[in-house]
Amino acid sequence: MKFEGSHILSVNQFDRSAIEQVFQVANQMVPYAKRQKRTKVLDGAIMGNLFFEPSTRTRVSFGTAFNLLGGEVRETTGMESSALAKGESLFDTARVLSGYSDIIAMRHPQNGSVAEFAEGSRVPVINGGDGSNEHPTQALLDLYTIEKEINYHGGSLDGLHIAMIGDLKFGRTVHSLSKLLSLYKNIRFTLISPKELAMPDSVLSVIENAGHRLTITDQLEGNMDADICYQTRIQEERFPSQEEANQYRGKFRLNQQIYTKHFQSKTVIMHPLPRDSRAEANELDNDLNQNPNLAIFRQTDNGVLVRMALFALTLGVENLVSQYDCDVHWYSNKSK
Ligand code: NCD
Repeated sequence: MKFEGSHILSVNQFDRSAIEQVFQVANQMVPYAKRQKRTKVLDGAIMGNLFFEPSTRTRVSFGTAFNLLGGEVRETTGMESSALAKGESLFDTARVLSGYSDIIAMRHPQNGSVAEFAEGSRVPVINGGDGSNEHPTQALLDLYTIEKEINYHGGSLDGLHIAMIGDLKFGRTVHSLSKLLSLYKNIRFTLISPKELAMPDSVLSVIENAGHRLTITDQLEGNMDADICYQTRIQEERFPSQEEANQYRGKFRLNQQIYTKHFQSKTVIMHPLPRDSRAEANELDNDLNQNPNLAIFRQTDNGVLVRMALFALTLGVENLVSQYDCDVHWYSNKSK
């Protein structure tokens, strides 16, 4: 895969060697993210961070990643504060904003919108989530996290057993992650969701065509022997009505007691976040916060590394980063 100058729109663009390349560059970003040193490799570069749908960690971590490489960030949030609200096409918006930036990260509620936007862009565009379709950078950071966690337990990606729980229909993170995992060998997928929120056929066929083991159920039963438990939020914003979303909220809660009953003591708990902590949902209880296998905040930290790697690769500076090093002068406890 050629990264320099390319858009990152879908996980379909990646093979195992491209993933390996991203992870190697991400590993090199650790001292910068930990504030042990700085780099100015992207000094003067501008990233357009366009988020037309709610976001906290994806938007801020894209911005942080670009800043950590020495670049500057211009941001638009919300449809209502952009000219899209005046009827401007995605193509025109892209044409204009790509004149102001060297690279663009974008999130938008419609499936396929980021690819449509990219057609009008003169600079690389990175998909930060398009409707219920894809979320490639989240899938890469999830996979990076899975590999790190599983290596810690002496395992490897090949042969992994992952349980995915919740809204598998509208959850774009599980769509992209399933496709990336399908590139590995002998994966076991246990997909647990209400029947109405099952994984789309387009994703199931990728899993099946690659010959992986697939179990589909609407019950959390028995001891599942999974290496990873990947919990998700009911994607209420994609349902026709709140009432409909409410039917599914709280169906698959996970707390320490349920975890102990259904998972191994070493099963890693993941969630793309935000977890819905309202009492009626509470899909990942706070009583898991002290569980050492809860990897949710390691995921968010890893997101910065992976997004730094993607910026470095698409802007062709992955081998120049340390040439532009400088010192950190302020107090930082990040490396502790
Ligand atoms: C996810 C998303 O936006 O798809 N969040 C994220 O980017 N970390 C999942 C979600 O919102 O539930």
